Amino acid sequence: MADGQEVFLRARNRKFTAFSEDEESQWKGPFYFIQGADPQFGLMKAWSVGDCDNGGDEWGQEIRLTEEAVQALNKLNPKPKFFVLCGDLNHAMPGEKWQKEQEQDLKNVLKKLDQAIPMVFVSGNHDIGNTPTPETVAGYCKSWGDDYYSYWVGGVLFLVLNSQFFFDSSKCPELKEAHDKWLSGQLAIAEQKKCKHAIVFQHIPLFLKNAHEDHDYFNIEGSVRQALLERFHKAGIKAVFSGHYHRNAGGMHNGLDMVVSSAIGCQLGEDTHGLRVVVVTAETIIHKYYSLTELNNQGIDKELMALIKQK
Ligand SMILES: [Fe+2]
Repeated sequence: MADGQEVFLRARNRKFTAFSEDEESQWKGPFYFIQGADPQFGLMKAWSVGDCDNGGDEWGQEIRLTEEAVQALNKLNPKPKFFVLCGDLNHAMPGEKWQKEQEQDLKNVLKKLDQAIPMVFVSGNHDIGNTPTPETVAGYCKSWGDDYYSYWVGGVLFLVLNSQFFFDSSKCPELKEAHDKWLSGQLAIAEQKKCKHAIVFQHIPLFLKNAHEDHDYFNIEGSVRQALLERFHKAGIKAVFSGHYHRNAGGMHNGLDMVVSSAIGCQLGEDTHGLRVVVVTAETIIHKYYSLTELNNQGIDKELMALIKQK
């Protein structure tokens, strides 16, 4: 593939054509996928010098870490059904210096991923801005595909949401409304039990540890959170996978597993740079976070592998 040419499929018209709905709407047995978050090219240097409000002028460390992630993914056997990247692809926000360079370098690394593993992109606050506008959202869609969409894999309905609309939609109220309407339609499909499970991907966690915690930069505001939790519960959503926190966290609420995964890139806590392995069985969704080194050297452990391979 020539340099600069796109190699990954992008979601369009709220669909992700890597998976055909006709072929994938029925349960066929356990499978697994890999979740990553926040490669965020540029944050590590910016964080180390205490200047996180600018685009980040170096990202060599993130290139190496993301390459390590791609290497680990390429070694997996059987292959994961897909690799979902839960936002903050790069550190430079729309219009900031280095945004184009970071984007190109990230794409150059991701191009090395085995093409049999589809990539699912989720938008983060750094990708469309803390207060997104129609222009920043359009810019993201042009580069990475739709900011929200759904697809089926083996009888499981996956919803990719744009959580920035839950955080601050003051400059894009129409987009937020359209997202909400679409989400209601998708939740109605899940509620009618036309799927084995329904799983959500979004950048910002609904909550970090418990559903009643205070609102801050890293979670969704309380009343918006409660309304979403109720809608998700009614629809039978089993799990929400997110990033944004740059630390592992999460908790159960009313049967919903809120999963917060640490970053491929910059760590803000004590976790390792890593990826999460998610196994979907008929009954449950089981997941485990691996450091990049662990996944590269040892692969997925036997217990999880046995679940993936069970018939
Ligand atoms: Fe981030």
